[in-house]
Amino acid sequence: MINFRTKKTGKKKIIVTSALPYVNNVPHLGTLICIISADVYSRFLRLKNEDVIYVLGTDEHGTTAEVKAKEEGLTPKKLVDKYFKIHKKVYDWFEIKPDCFGRTSSKENTKITVDIFKKLDKNGYIKEKEIEQTYCNKCKMFLSDRYVEGTCPKCKYEEARGDQCDNCGMLLDSKELLNPKCKLCGEKPVIKKTKHLFMDLPKIQPELKRWIDSRKKNWTDNARTMTEAWIKKGLRERAITRDIKWGIKVPKKGYEKKVFYSWFDAPIGYISITAEHIKNWEKLWKNPEKVRLVQFMGKDNIPFHTILFPSFLIGTKEEWTLMDSISVNEYLNYETGKFSKSRNQGVFADDAIKTGIKADVWRYYLMRQRPEKTDSLFTWDDFQEKINKELVANIGNLIHRTLFFIDKFYDSKIPGIKKKLDYKKDVDEITKLIDEKEIRKSLNKILVLGKKGNQYFQEQKPWETIKTDIKKCDNALANLVGLIKDIAILLYPFMPETSENVFDYFRLKNVKWDDLLKPLKRGTVIKKPKPLFNKLEDDELDKFRKKFSGNKKPEKGGKNMSDENLQKLNLKVGKIIEVKDHPNADKLYVLKVDIGGEEKQSVAGLKNYYKKEELEGNNFVFVINLEPAVLRGEKSEAMILAALKDDNLGLLIPENALSGEKVFAEGFEDKISEEQISFNDFKGLSLDVKDGKAYYENKLLKTSSGKIKIDKGLNEGKIM
Ligand code: MF3
Ligand code: ZN
Repeated sequence: MINFRTKKTGKKKIIVTSALPYVNNVPHLGTLICIISADVYSRFLRLKNEDVIYVLGTDEHGTTAEVKAKEEGLTPKKLVDKYFKIHKKVYDWFEIKPDCFGRTSSKENTKITVDIFKKLDKNGYIKEKEIEQTYCNKCKMFLSDRYVEGTCPKCKYEEARGDQCDNCGMLLDSKELLNPKCKLCGEKPVIKKTKHLFMDLPKIQPELKRWIDSRKKNWTDNARTMTEAWIKKGLRERAITRDIKWGIKVPKKGYEKKVFYSWFDAPIGYISITAEHIKNWEKLWKNPEKVRLVQFMGKDNIPFHTILFPSFLIGTKEEWTLMDSISVNEYLNYETGKFSKSRNQGVFADDAIKTGIKADVWRYYLMRQRPEKTDSLFTWDDFQEKINKELVANIGNLIHRTLFFIDKFYDSKIPGIKKKLDYKKDVDEITKLIDEKEIRKSLNKILVLGKKGNQYFQEQKPWETIKTDIKKCDNALANLVGLIKDIAILLYPFMPETSENVFDYFRLKNVKWDDLLKPLKRGTVIKKPKPLFNKLEDDELDKFRKKFSGNKKPEKGGKNMSDENLQKLNLKVGKIIEVKDHPNADKLYVLKVDIGGEEKQSVAGLKNYYKKEELEGNNFVFVINLEPAVLRGEKSEAMILAALKDDNLGLLIPENALSGEKVFAEGFEDKISEEQISFNDFKGLSLDVKDGKAYYENKLLKTSSGKIKIDKGLNEGKIM
């Protein structure tokens, strides 16, 4: 029996991975979130002198590539070669620095995949089964799940893929789809019998569960909850072969025309990519006592990394380095809805490059908006605001005014320190947050430190003390340059080029995390400073918005907002009569709400923000015409509205109103929809808080009895 405990003592090597993106498209900003997160984390570890190996590459086999190749009139091999080059260029441009970079279509990956398969087979974890499968009479072939599209049986989303519904995340079998269509010719497929190989997950479940239990405390909540739900339901056997041509051949009689399912060989790619770069890769991947594996991915990848991949490895009965901790991000949405290449909607990496905005700034924004606990939104307004208010006015300003002052009044020489400014607590806190992969939060804290620096500059008034109290002036500036150097170190994982620039002003080389809080050498001659960030002006922003927003273009200032959007929501005041913990989710409450005498159930992610007593008996605003949903097994018939800004959340409070009263956009009281609205359409609406007031498509939100207040003093933010 494998011992899953890992030794606590001694320094470990760390393998960091980010999910290997499919290489059949230009990556969009959402894809980059996970890759940049892993890059930030591994840069941080390197700076801390940890022994880290960041593995990245492309996922090249499978139906996705085969389908796209057909569309582009290329062979699958030509297609992946084409997009591999594009991906590689994009990652280089975004300053992503993996230690090992490779592709799952390599020889090495075939070798290790076949090897693992043979061991699983020998150990009795591979089962052969005859199954019924969708077959297209017109195309004369079995259709793997991805070749079939139709309506999701669970959420009724019409463009569900045969293997998974992109809308509700449910894993599917193409036979379960309603109104199935062949993706190649549009014909309705028939069902025929065929043989496939299956991974015997029920057989390995007890062993797998022991492993999960030994590790799950290190996982993000979303990963833990989803995995536990799978285990609780009981695992099913899962096919690991497919009826397509593009993939790794199955070395077994009768399977000559089939290949391995790409989710079988893709995660093995992490291992083979390492093996291509590092000769004794087994010291890393077969060394659980000395190596820690940390994996970054988006939420649709969870079960593949917490169930399938570990099962493949455990089933070999060898001692593999299995995942220790996982960091799962949610989705980044674009201002007018989902990122979609086909609708030319959203920002794709090649577009981002063409804007002329520096990679560091993109990295900053994407990590600042990292969808850590919930989905987050990319909007051009927010992008502009964060660049101008945070990078230019906070960090950039602090650096520039300080260095400029030294350049001008100190002959470029760093003065000596008398009394050290104390911000060790901030530094420790930020270090801990990055260490715990709370990347977005750590960035917030760095901004707070920048603010403190600017305040200190104001309080110390060097422009006065330079004439009246030179010692005080010296001390202030020496402290300020020290702080700038430290902010540059803290920001290095996020914005390496910018930080290198700052280090270069001070003539520092090979800066490490250990250099934090150490004063700079007195008398050092600093190089001439230049502004690090440029303001993003309105006209430039409008250009980008036009270019990247596809058909729907949200207008700034609300001049041309369509009245149509204003009639989509039915909002009512609801009184919460009871709050219960959700039985299967850590962050959710199940609310009983009275809406004008009618009782509805609502599931809300408020547990991290509100105590039960703060909710019970009080009135809030609810959307009552949203498509009902089932969230982790609990139905939700109404959605409570909350304003969100960074990590703060405040509910909308209707003043003086009674339950059941209408909540409406000014001027639209009588035009409220009775029709249902889908969650996707809801996300396309603009609801936000400005100056402490709530707006719906830029019109003030109110009731006939009075104003809507935003709880917790939130002055601005998005309403969700
Ligand atoms: N290509 C998959 C996706 O983009 C991720 C594969 S991750 C790996 O969703 F583990 F298989 F490599
Ligand atoms: Zn067909």
